[in-house]
Amino acid sequence: MNAHPAAPLPPLHNDRFLRACLRLPTDCTPVWLMRQAGRYLPEYRATRDQAGSFMGLATNPELACEVTMQPLRRYDLDAAILFSDILTVPDAMGLGLSFAAGEGPKFAHVVRDEAAVAKLAVPDMDKLRYVFDAVRTIRRELTDANGVGKVPLIGFSGSPWTLACYMVEGGGSDDYRLVKTLMYQRPDLMHRILEVNADAVALYLNTQIEAGAQAAMIFDSWGGVLADGAFQQFSLAYTRRVLTQLKQSHNGVRIPHIVFTKGGGLWLSEIADTGCDVVGLDWTMNLGKAREMVGDRVALQGNLDPNVLFAKPEQVEAEVIRTLDAFGRHDARSGHIFNLGHGISQFTPPESVSVLVDTVHRHSRTLRG
Ligand code: CP3
Repeated sequence: MNAHPAAPLPPLHNDRFLRACLRLPTDCTPVWLMRQAGRYLPEYRATRDQAGSFMGLATNPELACEVTMQPLRRYDLDAAILFSDILTVPDAMGLGLSFAAGEGPKFAHVVRDEAAVAKLAVPDMDKLRYVFDAVRTIRRELTDANGVGKVPLIGFSGSPWTLACYMVEGGGSDDYRLVKTLMYQRPDLMHRILEVNADAVALYLNTQIEAGAQAAMIFDSWGGVLADGAFQQFSLAYTRRVLTQLKQSHNGVRIPHIVFTKGGGLWLSEIADTGCDVVGLDWTMNLGKAREMVGDRVALQGNLDPNVLFAKPEQVEAEVIRTLDAFGRHDARSGHIFNLGHGISQFTPPESVSVLVDTVHRHSRTLRG
């Protein structure tokens, strides 16, 4: 639900991210990056090689913790994000996830007919124990001897619709032909998949929160491929079904909920009405116009084009400033978390990220007071 002015925050050296999620005043704009732990960092590639594969890395809590911490050692980031993947949930449903080198995700079993849909069920969370162990390990690593955390830890899941895309297609897709065929031909089966996914995602996120995740983000990466009308029925309704089940607080501390729909700008107002605390935006939106549209319903997260990071340092700086200025000056109830409009590219020069983070903190101070 919407921010509560007296929302209790956990003990943190840097709580800017949580404050911005709840639209409480901050000294400057917090920043983190989607896929901040990843292949653009040489130290990530070294740890992944040590683990043998992406899933070897994600299922080893010590190594997952190590790669979660790597970007925080290099950059002055305001949040950590659990190192895992959205596809761990369908994997736990028995679909058999693998990542072939350079090929993207693949499922051994797909869900395209009545028989496969009938077999779907919310997975036993014990199959995802490695994720919750990673959350606990990361929280321990982030916490000092006095029990005070460095920055908050974000937990995440895919949205019911985005997970369904992979479960039906069996991997990535350019045209979403198979998942849309099922949706238009057999909406009853599609709704059944989405119901199971929504309940699985809610349980998965609540278990992450109980293990120590301090915010929960839903990635609706493929919501934007849907037609108007279909988006509301097949994506948004099930994101809402997740949100209504999510824990709003844990041990008396508020847990903000973030919804990121890539290509969801057209439906911004409807997304802001789901009861989430923060809406993530891709780079197609103007942050100032988005702010006007949502008023004080939600905070906004985003939205620099990840490809800006391929430009020269002074150009990166100028684009970051443009994004901060588009959001505008801060008032008592504004909330902006700086991020990219989608995940960081594996080809990004690491130096560009330093310029981005430092510019966000420096320039955003001038937009306050
Ligand atoms: O943000 C973070 O640093 C946390 C880690 C994270 C990963 N995936 C690690 C990862 C998060 C939040 C995700 C989410 C995710 N995974 C999404 C939603 C966000 C988005 O990008 O839209 C989606 C759609 C996926 C599915 C997925 N995982 C794909 C399509 C791929 C292969 C494509 C690619 O970039 O290689 C992955 C693999 C993956 N997940 C990698 C990482 C760092 C790269 C694999 C590797 O290291 O070999």
